[in-house]
Amino acid sequence: MTHKILVLNGPNLNMLGIRDTSMYGTDSLETIVNDLKAFAAEKSVELRDYQSNSEGALVDSIHDAYKWADGIVFNAGAYTHTSIALRDAIAAAKLPVVEVHLSNVHAREEFRHKSMIAPVCLGVCAGFGRWSYFAGLQALLWNLESKK
Ligand code: DQA
Repeated sequence: MTHKILVLNGPNLNMLGIRDTSMYGTDSLETIVNDLKAFAAEKSVELRDYQSNSEGALVDSIHDAYKWADGIVFNAGAYTHTSIALRDAIAAAKLPVVEVHLSNVHAREEFRHKSMIAPVCLGVCAGFGRWSYFAGLQALLWNLESKK
């Protein structure tokens, strides 16, 4: 295995496939993560995943990732727009993090235009539905490879 990556999902993403399917698509989170794992396996990348609806559990997971991961693909859901705690956790872990969103948050309500975590992330991938995760992972891998 070359790289170890955490795919981290925040609040309400466990409801994918049920919740607002015209906005987020019909795939469940499990389907997306399984397909992402297959994509990663082709590249000999080890992918672990975690989802929580709780801000503190997400902070703990970022702290834990500091011990084993090379980077994180992170859909923080609505906490993206509110959480200073997640931003501080990312900054503390000093891991490259790619912020991802299924929807194009900039084409939606104004409160979704602001990301608290973007300034401490490597980059942002939003608006490509399930493919945002794949594009985010690929970009993270290219970044890690360029640092070798
Ligand atoms: C989301 C966008 C957020 O604004 C929203 O709160 C979500 C999902 C997305 O993937 O498009 O829960 O992160």
